[in-house]
Amino acid sequence: MHRVSLQAWTGRVAANSSLYRETIEYVAGLLSAGGGFLLWVGDELAGSVRYFPVARQPLSWEIKRLGVIAAHRGQGLGALLMDAVHEQARSEAVQVLQLGIRADQPRLVSFYEQLGYALDDAVTLSAQNPHTIAAITMSRRLVK
Ligand SMILES: CC(C)(COP(=O)(O)OP(=O)(O)OC[C@H]1O[C@@H](n2cnc3c(N)ncnc32)[C@H](O)[C@@H]1OP(=O)(O)O)[C@@H](O)C(=O)NCCC(=O)NCCS
Repeated sequence: MHRVSLQAWTGRVAANSSLYRETIEYVAGLLSAGGGFLLWVGDELAGSVRYFPVARQPLSWEIKRLGVIAAHRGQGLGALLMDAVHEQARSEAVQVLQLGIRADQPRLVSFYEQLGYALDDAVTLSAQNPHTIAAITMSRRLVK
């Protein structure tokens, strides 16, 4: 998961992202608090996404580090990974999903809007990168 995140983000997401400072131990800790999905295309690892619970009512998860390796982009695989999270969240009675987008990647807002997310200033992200300006926050309410 650590490796595929790095592969998907490098060259696309600015070098001051906190992703590049993550360790395998940190990623393992996040995964044990929540979970994640790896995407395979044939026998090639093509992408991943992670999620974990946040202190917010109703029951909510934060989604992080969605990434699809460049060679596999443009085929809707990012949406497929997000759908896997949505399905898992429903099965665990999660009602709200939240995420942050770097302010220097505003095009991603429409990507997430197509997946049912809306801009939401009320979202408090689990972590704010002190090296970048405040992230754009979005959320989606899940219907059963
Ligand atoms: C986001 C991502 C998983 C989507 O993969 P995908 O399902 O194959 O979809 P695409 O790569 O075709 O991207 C969908 C749209 O988002 C835009 N986009 C994706 N990553 C972007 C980035 N880092 N910065 C700006 N725009 C980005 C694409 O340009 C595209 O918009 P367009 O259709 O207007 O050109 C993939 O682009 C990726 O891994 N990006 C790098 C990591 C990243 O930024 N993750 C999101 C963190 S919030």
